[in-house]
Amino acid sequence: MKKITIIGAGSVGSTCANVIAQKDLAREVVLLDVKEGLAEGKALDIWQTSSILHFNTRVTGSTNDYLKTKGSGIIVITSGVPRKPGMSREDLIKTNAAIVKEVTEKAIKYSPDAIIIVVSNPLDVMTYAAYLAANKSHKKIFGMAGILDTGRYKAFIADALNVSPEDIHALLLGGHGDTMVPLPRYTSINGIPVTELLSQDVIDKIVERTRKGGGELVNLIGTSAWYAPGAAVAQMVEAIVDDERRIFPVCAYLTGEFGLKDIYLGVPVMLGAGGVEEIIEISLNEEEQKLLKTSAESVREVMKVLDDLKLF
Ligand code: 2OP
Repeated sequence: MKKITIIGAGSVGSTCANVIAQKDLAREVVLLDVKEGLAEGKALDIWQTSSILHFNTRVTGSTNDYLKTKGSGIIVITSGVPRKPGMSREDLIKTNAAIVKEVTEKAIKYSPDAIIIVVSNPLDVMTYAAYLAANKSHKKIFGMAGILDTGRYKAFIADALNVSPEDIHALLLGGHGDTMVPLPRYTSINGIPVTELLSQDVIDKIVERTRKGGGELVNLIGTSAWYAPGAAVAQMVEAIVDDERRIFPVCAYLTGEFGLKDIYLGVPVMLGAGGVEEIIEISLNEEEQKLLKTSAESVREVMKVLDDLKLF
C-alpha cells in the first residue's frame, strides 16, 4: 500500500506506526498529532531503526497538516485522552467524541476512499462517531478491540497451560468494556477444546481477568496500554493490505446480525482488502446470547451519551 496514516502520536499511535513499519506494510506511514513536533520526533526515531531492523517503510510525522495524509489507503484513529486509574473507558466520551469527529472529517477530506480503523475509547461508540462523521460505507469503518482482548485472553490461557500462545485460537464478542464476552466454547488449543485442558474454575478466572484486562494495565502503568493495542491494529492493517481474509473479532456495524442493528459491537469478521468482507454469525447458546445482549445494552447506554452531546 502506498500510504497509511495514523492520527495520534501517543503511545498507541506510535507503537502502531512502529509495528506497521517493521512489517513493511506500506511505502509510507504518516504519523500526525496536534502536539507540535511530537509526531515528527517519534516518526524520526522509528525511521532511524530502519537500517537496524531492516525495513523500507518511510515513517514521517506531521503537526496537524492533513495535506500530508492525502491519498492514504488506511487511516487509523488513535486520538483522544487515555484512561487514568479510577476512570472507565466511558468517562472519556465527552472529550474524545469531539476529537474523533474532528479528525475523521479532516482526514476523510484528503483520503475519501480510505478504510478507517478506530482505536479511541470508548471504542464501540467512538467507532460509531467516526462512522457518522465520515458518512461512508460501514464496511470501511470499524474498530480495533477484539484482537487486543483475545490477545490478552490467549496470553492468560498460554500461561495457565504453559504452551505457546500461537497455538491458542479464540473468539470474543461484545463491547470493548467489562461486559465483553470471551467465548470458551469457541476456544481451542490447536483444535483441542480449552474445556478439555482447563477446569471451569480456571477458565472463569481467565474470562474475568480478560474482561478487566485493560483496567489491570491502567492500574499498573498509571495510563492505558499501548504495546498490545498497537500490535493488534497492525495485524488488522496487514489483513487489509495483503487481502488476507483473516477472521478476527472486530468492532463492526451490525444490520441485524446476532439480532442487533444500528450499533457497533465486537463480532467475528472476515477482514480483507474491502475492509469488513463478511460478518460471521456464529451460533450462540442461551447464556452467550444473554451476555451479548447485556454487552450491547451497555454500549447503547454510552451511545445515548453521544446522542446527548448533539455533535451530529
Ligand atoms: C485497553 O484495553 C486501551 O482500551 C485499551 O488497554
